[in-house]
Amino acid sequence: MDKLVVEGGARLAGAIDISGAKNAALPLMCAALLAREPLTLSRLPHLSDVRTMNKLLAQMGVGIAEEGDRITLDASRIDWPLAPYEMVKTMRASILALGPLLARCHEARVSLPGGCGIGQRPVDQHIKGLVAMGAEIDLENGYINARGRLVGVRYVFDVVTVTGTENLLMAAALADGTTVLENAAREPEIVDLAECLVAMGARITGAGSDRITIEGVKELHGATHAIMPDRIETGTFIAAVGATGGDALLRGARADTLDAVVDKFVEAGLTIVSEGAALRVTRTGPIKPASLRTAPYPAFPTDLQAQFMALETCGEGTSVITETIFENRMMHVQELMRLGAKIEVEGNTAVVTGVPRLTGATVMATDLRASACLVIAGLVAEGETTIDRIYHLDRGYERIEDKLSALGARIRRVN
Ligand code: EPU
Repeated sequence: MDKLVVEGGARLAGAIDISGAKNAALPLMCAALLAREPLTLSRLPHLSDVRTMNKLLAQMGVGIAEEGDRITLDASRIDWPLAPYEMVKTMRASILALGPLLARCHEARVSLPGGCGIGQRPVDQHIKGLVAMGAEIDLENGYINARGRLVGVRYVFDVVTVTGTENLLMAAALADGTTVLENAAREPEIVDLAECLVAMGARITGAGSDRITIEGVKELHGATHAIMPDRIETGTFIAAVGATGGDALLRGARADTLDAVVDKFVEAGLTIVSEGAALRVTRTGPIKPASLRTAPYPAFPTDLQAQFMALETCGEGTSVITETIFENRMMHVQELMRLGAKIEVEGNTAVVTGVPRLTGATVMATDLRASACLVIAGLVAEGETTIDRIYHLDRGYERIEDKLSALGARIRRVN
């Protein structure tokens, strides 16, 4: 199993390119299932989750051609509208195949994802929405068996769910009649998906608001779409540069998807300015304490909570960080404390009291964003930090050690 070894203390400086967004790429790849003609996506990030999605689509019969950062998915034939447990258990986003398969093939069999490290993460909203659209669904032997022709309805989500909104958005694109999704998630990745679907011939308005209207069409056609830049990768590098008191240019970062994030990092003492199609991040003064609560977009994302906490471990005061989306997303705290951080957790709130320095140790990554948090802490800790189980990191960060090295970090992967 690979590990990352970080020698702390280097100030990050230079420029890097932000990759395409994992959480946009995965639903966009599933959108290919909706059309008989090929969908080409550019700015595809090279991630293990993307490889898993490739395998999943390929075993359904989708033809896949990849070249550099472009992928063409040809779903002219779908042989098996099936997502088996072996794949769903390694990547929950496999559930995103359910809506498109059902809409296109009028049947689908998708394994129920189990709980995962950060929380229970049920998919009841996906199922309820599809049932409201006329699907017959039964749960048997750990699988969601769905069939039927979908019809447009007005559906109000009980909870705001990102992949739930994406699943119903894709399903509604081919449903008979008009669907109105209320209390929809507003994440930029949903806007990206809607833009691609519109390029494929779908009729969608309101994506990015909490009410999305989809007028179903008989068929979608092929299209070419550039995946949006990853706002979570951007925020992770903002935290890393800020933590080391660095100065770096993040090329291709989309500032318009990062308002709450930029505001919070600025409150923490960073300077963040747009320079054309890039963001420049610097920190010259101290890290100031800043408190936050995670919440659905446009508020501060749960996917950056751990990285922000890593920054505040060396802040000049006390920050209160509350996680409201997932019930078990504080697992990085114990590991940060092994590096000398002072943090008290009560329920889903962490009270972080900044310390003058962290010291290197061996730590264990528990999920994707917790891993990124530990890398950031390792960058500022004195001495050597070894981060174990970095397969989590490879799921969602493209060549993180290469990008950090390009900024001057002393980081290497060992086997
Ligand atoms: N929820 C339900 N029922 C459902 C669906 C969700 O109760 O049917 C609850 C969840 O348990 C959670 C909350 O609603 O408490 C929000 O979950 P959501 O469905 O929005 O999460 P998701 O769609 O499974 C996506 C991202 C996550 C990100 C969350 C929140 C993808 C592929 N995944 O997950 O990304 O944390 O939205 O923004 O888009 C990551 O990249 O590290 C990651 C975990």
